[in-house]
Amino acid sequence: MDSMEKNKIFAAVLCAGIMAMLAGFIADQLVHPHMPDADAVAIEGVDGAVGGPVKAKMPDPIMHLIATADMAKGEKLSKACAACHSFDQGGPDKVGPNLHGVVGAAKARKSGFGYSSALTETSGAWGYEDLNFFLWKPKNYVPGTKMNYAGMKKPGDRAALIAWLRAQGSGSFPAPNAGEIAAEAAELAPPEEEAAVEEAAH
Ligand code: HEC
Repeated sequence: MDSMEKNKIFAAVLCAGIMAMLAGFIADQLVHPHMPDADAVAIEGVDGAVGGPVKAKMPDPIMHLIATADMAKGEKLSKACAACHSFDQGGPDKVGPNLHGVVGAAKARKSGFGYSSALTETSGAWGYEDLNFFLWKPKNYVPGTKMNYAGMKKPGDRAALIAWLRAQGSGSFPAPNAGEIAAEAAELAPPEEEAAVEEAAH
């Protein structure tokens, strides 16, 4: 191969390289690739962490556990609340209001207690469903609440505590009936594949 031929080959390779670069550049200019910052479709419960544990957005159901809940366990769990709440009839308001008869009662019902506006602006009564959501994650359910309590994660714990609470002056409020239990299960029980992912994450 003489040097002339080497030069030709070199020139050809160089030319091809420049052509490829140019083609890429022109293609970029024509197509304007734009990478969106957020996923086009938000995937419920995934929080961007692919393969990570699914973060529950709703508490597990508890109504089916109320009727057979362990009262002694509920009483023990109420110690987590006792620093701020009394439970006996006519008991004092502390950091939080007295909770005698709270199950089934109107929210923010104690006129003498300084509730947060976050709580007074909510409506309705403390039925099982509301208590389940509130005790699971108070600040999630009532954003801005003054109740500085992180929440009770285990559904069995919440059920035992709520059943015990009901025995403190809310005896006339009925236990959940079959229809309410089924409705709650339909609303809160995770779809099967999600449950499997959660199971695997534990
Ligand atoms: C650190 C103090 C504190 C702890 C611990 C605490 N609470 Fe509270 N709780 C409060 C305060 C303060 C309020 C009033 C919230 C507001 O006004 O936003 C409240 C409100 C409530 C209410 C609503 C009462 C009403 O009249 O509407 C319920 C029900 C309740 N707490 C249950 C519990 C239970 C059950 C526990 C234990 C698992 C608990 N709390 C633990 C401070 C506390």
